[in-house]
Amino acid sequence: MREGTVTLIRREDYLAPAFWIRSVDLSFDLDPAKTLVTSKMRIERNTAVAHGPLCLHGEELNVLRVLIDGESVSFRQDGDLLLIDKAPDADFLLEIRNTCAPEKNTALSGLYTSGGSFFTQCEAEGFRRITFFLDRPDVMAVYTVTLRADKAKYPVLLSNGNLLESGELDNGRHFAKWHDPFPKPSYLFALVAGDLVAREQKVRTRAGRDHLLQVFVRRGDLEKTEHAMNSLIASMVWDEARFNLPLDLERFMVVGVSDFNMGAMENKGLNIFNTSALLASPATATDADFSRIESIVAHEYFHNWTGNRVTCRDWFQLSLKEGLTVFRDQEFSMDMAATPSARAVCRIQDVRQLRATQFPEDSGAMAHPVRPDSYAEINNFYTATVYEKGSEVVRMYQTLVGRAGFEAGMKLYFERHDGQAVTCDDFAQAIADANPGSALATRLEAFKRWYSQAGTPRVRARGVYDELARTYTLTLAQSNPASPGQEHKLPQVIPVALGLLGAEGQALPLQLQGETEAAGLERVLVLDQAEQRFVFINVAVAPVPSLLRGFSAPVLLDDGLSDAELLVLLQHDADAFNRWEASQRLALNRILAAVRSGQALQLDTAYLEAMRAVLKHAGLDAAFKELALTLPGEAYIAEQLEVVDPQAIHAAVEAAQIQLAAALREDWIATFEANSHTGAYSPDPVSSGRRALANLALGMLVLDAKAQSRADAGVWLGRAYQRFKDAGNMTDRLGALAALVNGHAELAEPALAKFHAQFKGDPLVIDKWFALQARAAEQGGRVFAKVRQLLQHPDFSLKNPNRARSLIFSLCMFNPAAFHRADAAGYVFWADQLLALDAINPQVAGRLARVMDRWTTLAEPYRSAALEAIRRVATKPDLSNDVREIIERALA
Ligand code: ARG
Ligand code: ZN
Repeated sequence: MREGTVTLIRREDYLAPAFWIRSVDLSFDLDPAKTLVTSKMRIERNTAVAHGPLCLHGEELNVLRVLIDGESVSFRQDGDLLLIDKAPDADFLLEIRNTCAPEKNTALSGLYTSGGSFFTQCEAEGFRRITFFLDRPDVMAVYTVTLRADKAKYPVLLSNGNLLESGELDNGRHFAKWHDPFPKPSYLFALVAGDLVAREQKVRTRAGRDHLLQVFVRRGDLEKTEHAMNSLIASMVWDEARFNLPLDLERFMVVGVSDFNMGAMENKGLNIFNTSALLASPATATDADFSRIESIVAHEYFHNWTGNRVTCRDWFQLSLKEGLTVFRDQEFSMDMAATPSARAVCRIQDVRQLRATQFPEDSGAMAHPVRPDSYAEINNFYTATVYEKGSEVVRMYQTLVGRAGFEAGMKLYFERHDGQAVTCDDFAQAIADANPGSALATRLEAFKRWYSQAGTPRVRARGVYDELARTYTLTLAQSNPASPGQEHKLPQVIPVALGLLGAEGQALPLQLQGETEAAGLERVLVLDQAEQRFVFINVAVAPVPSLLRGFSAPVLLDDGLSDAELLVLLQHDADAFNRWEASQRLALNRILAAVRSGQALQLDTAYLEAMRAVLKHAGLDAAFKELALTLPGEAYIAEQLEVVDPQAIHAAVEAAQIQLAAALREDWIATFEANSHTGAYSPDPVSSGRRALANLALGMLVLDAKAQSRADAGVWLGRAYQRFKDAGNMTDRLGALAALVNGHAELAEPALAKFHAQFKGDPLVIDKWFALQARAAEQGGRVFAKVRQLLQHPDFSLKNPNRARSLIFSLCMFNPAAFHRADAAGYVFWADQLLALDAINPQVAGRLARVMDRWTTLAEPYRSAALEAIRRVATKPDLSNDVREIIERALA
């Protein structure tokens, strides 16, 4: 940590390591105050690289001795490096002994303690906080690990791979020795020691091999691991069936920890999870939690192939494993969803997430390509762009080569690169080579601009129908605005899946000029020029185009469709994603018009009747209805505007909500009655869709009761409170509580108090209690005042990342109306909390710093006030590298 500007690491400067570490024998004498680490490394020079010193990474370590082949050797320390100038040319054994202090490690990177147990987090560069090493992903070693610790306090001792032996030692201590046969980079190392219990399951794979699956948690949490175990088994089955990728270890362990910087980590054979991404019971977790757990368990499991067996050459290639693994977990969730409509719901949720997080990122100060060109702190690049946009890029490969072609590409990728540390180019080449002549292979270099160009491309689509010639000419044009460091962009390869509908909604056959017959009712056009025309022939009637079906590319589409055309799509499109998209566009157009004109929003009958029709439609799933009736997110709305007034956006959304609540009141009542009883809890898509819709309806009814001061207002407020009290599961309970809190009902306070008393022993539920209040619909500054008050609550702590996120991130990131205040108090709050957090945990602080990414687009007085808060943070001399990088980019 130091003052001044950050030092950038550049992708173009990549050099292979001067030495290879082939194997490492680690032993740990675990003690919270001072843990002793002995590391014996088999090292050889990389003869392909010029001679130089052996230069090892090490942070906040205390070195005790350094031996080469058993003899002490001179070394020097320079900052966070340990250098040995006279390393032998022949292979040698390097032994290093050092200590570290796990209980002082509040950064939660490296070896740390949580709730009296030991855990590690090494990605990206945490291993160097455990011992000296070539801590970079292209150095892959075989690990043997011996753990020694007090047996009573730490009865369970885990590390990667297989257990070789375990036994007793003197003084009440014991040991366990683990061996992982697969060479791996240091970021995949893990150890766990503590008083934990496990749910176990033996499984046999299709290949006929037996495996032991274990989910370790604290005593008392065991009954909350069933869903995670089921998700793990389902993931194993799916990866074998879809990609022919079996589990390669006898034992696969998952461990939960309540202090964790992110969701989970794919350490080889020993995944470590934030308890929020692992533990669930119907009484304590919502449907959203159940589905998040399923996808994170799957994600980490899938990393075993896409990440561990084939890893990244350097951290610039992070999306090689993350984009691909997100794609795989999204595909898994879709395949689990079973019905076409439930699949579409998955896709809609993923796209909503992309638009809410990645689109703003891609147009803000931190915009970076999927494969970044430089970073100061790699932890700042575990971003929506690397993950979610990276996944969209992988999806486009699949769209361009087809599902079977993509599977063939994956097969070739593993044939070529199993056991290697490779680049995004290697992945692209494998997919292309497996599909010669495909729309991908013939445009590979242009396609790879998705990795090198930041920014969300804009696609403009305009169609002209010629009644006489019976042709429909569709002109597609693309552009991509400048990003930091990238003034001009080249055209990207954009797959545009489309269909054409007649005015009555019938699908029209698609025949392009030059083709002898129509090729189906849906096809993929490939836009790879700045502008292209596609002429459809034998088009019987003027069509309504349904473009970018299934969101076939991560772009902003301007299709210029009229309300009437959007209504056709909303009613008839064969593509459920585009039906939903039409609902959102109808709402978005109205909200944007109000915000742009500065006039109060007034919803028209056409829109309200369309929404009523969706709500009453007998053939649509509850889950779909809930998504269609939910208004676009405020961050996505902001994305469409040059100058952003968060209060104006919020006011328009709020007005839309109140009018939707009032106009459809009878339908909301009917909807609530029809969906409010889902029987014995199961997190399946059908019943969770019904619960989501019932919660939306209840929220609308409470909002309406308050907003219209209806004579019978008490009825719905009372019913919400009753439902809150009597709920049989957390989804219903939290939904009813949210309705009361967002409606600022008098019963909200007693309900919150009751909820806290009921769940005070369960930190994950108390996180929800904080988050619900911090995300509540702002009304006259009440929410902000409440958050400030909650900072003093005895249950609040900045040290636990989940708790910090539940209160502070909820306000600053997810509640624009409460955060962006004309009196700047929100920004002052942000700066204060950011500085406090940075002294504890730079990684989490780096994330909070991102809140100001888009300050330059803010309207006054927000813009000036935000700048002042950012400058105040910038003047702090001892900022972490993490926060300094974000702040410098914001001010650049
Ligand atoms: N590889 C992990 C995952 O996506 C996340 C690790 C994040 N690490 C970090 N330093 N932010 O599953
Ligand atoms: Zn991942």
